[in-house]
Amino acid sequence: MFDQLEVLPADPLLGLIGLFRDDPNPNKVDLGVGVYRDEHGHTAIMSAIQKAEQLHMDKEDSKTYLGPIGVAGFVQGIKELVLGESSEALKAGRISGLQTPGGCGALRIGSELLKRIKGDLTVWASDPTWANHIPLISSTGLKIKSYPYFDPTTGGINFEAMDAKLAELGPNDIVLLHGCCHNPTGADLSFEQWQRVAERATKQGFIPFVDIAYQGLGDGLEADVKGVRYLSEQVEEMVIATSCSKNFGLYRERTGTLLVQTKSEANAHAIQTHTQDAARANYSMPPAYGGFLVETVLNNPALRQEWEDELNGMATRVKSLRAGLLNKIQERGIDKDFGFITQQKGMFSYLGISKEQVRRLREDFSIYMADSSRINVAGLNTQCLNYVADSLKTVLE
Ligand code: LMR
Repeated sequence: MFDQLEVLPADPLLGLIGLFRDDPNPNKVDLGVGVYRDEHGHTAIMSAIQKAEQLHMDKEDSKTYLGPIGVAGFVQGIKELVLGESSEALKAGRISGLQTPGGCGALRIGSELLKRIKGDLTVWASDPTWANHIPLISSTGLKIKSYPYFDPTTGGINFEAMDAKLAELGPNDIVLLHGCCHNPTGADLSFEQWQRVAERATKQGFIPFVDIAYQGLGDGLEADVKGVRYLSEQVEEMVIATSCSKNFGLYRERTGTLLVQTKSEANAHAIQTHTQDAARANYSMPPAYGGFLVETVLNNPALRQEWEDELNGMATRVKSLRAGLLNKIQERGIDKDFGFITQQKGMFSYLGISKEQVRRLREDFSIYMADSSRINVAGLNTQCLNYVADSLKTVLE
């Protein structure tokens, strides 16, 4: 039986971890997987999380099962963080929610829920989108197609083309949107564009499915969800997948939530039973640890402030690295206009260089990035900016 399978190629993003680790070049630069790094290339545990670990350890007196919902206080905290405490849908009990193993778990259970409701739905994802969206969603049996999004000539969005595609969609369609800090391009919808998407959704009846994994790493915790909150006010139904990997630094703890906004409290209750049932059939219940830590941070005013301050510091650092990289590129008089680097938001930027140029950067200069030419800006530091700009100039010549 086991002779039949051939070795698969490495995952386009996670495969970069091993390649980078095994590279002996002391000047190597890791701009691959989306992980926040400090000036020394280290992904530290956030200080509020470290304190929450201690508080949690002192308090936890059992490891008994929690059930498929996970840590209920965490789920409530994330509902408020994303939608705002004053959200009408939240106050009316119209949001069902459960903890999931990371944002991936949320995308998976959300897709399974949609598949249960209607087998022939099509999920529309931005072109391009996060590489793992496609296998995650299509493995549930839903069809996945793409709508126009990124404009390589400007480094921004071709909203006219996106809007024209949305105008063709209807009740059998789901539109996958990145809540903020679009992965892989860093090109975000403006508030006016969110308004247009909301108008299209209400008029044509497609369901928005928002994936939000970088809240707080763009323009701030509140600013980053302005579009999502507006959408939630306008549409009756939507699905949201959240992740605490980046903004709480809980990557390996697999901490996310699936939130489903419905028309009524009764619908939310029914959805809750289905998402819990889907979770039970997949992994039974999520790992609880990360949920306890986030719950502790969100509900302890001092820790919450400490977390917000550190998160703001991370976002500010990424912005200054964007400006620093652009400055070094411009100093070298490179022909291509990279001005978009400082316009894009969050951890990623899409350099718009060829696969061959990406390969040369990796093989000749030990600079690692996704084949698409997505860079993790948070993988830069002030020491390597000259080296990255010089190498980029060489491969572009
Ligand atoms: C990324 O996009 O690099 C991260 O979200 C990590 C992953 O799981 O792909």
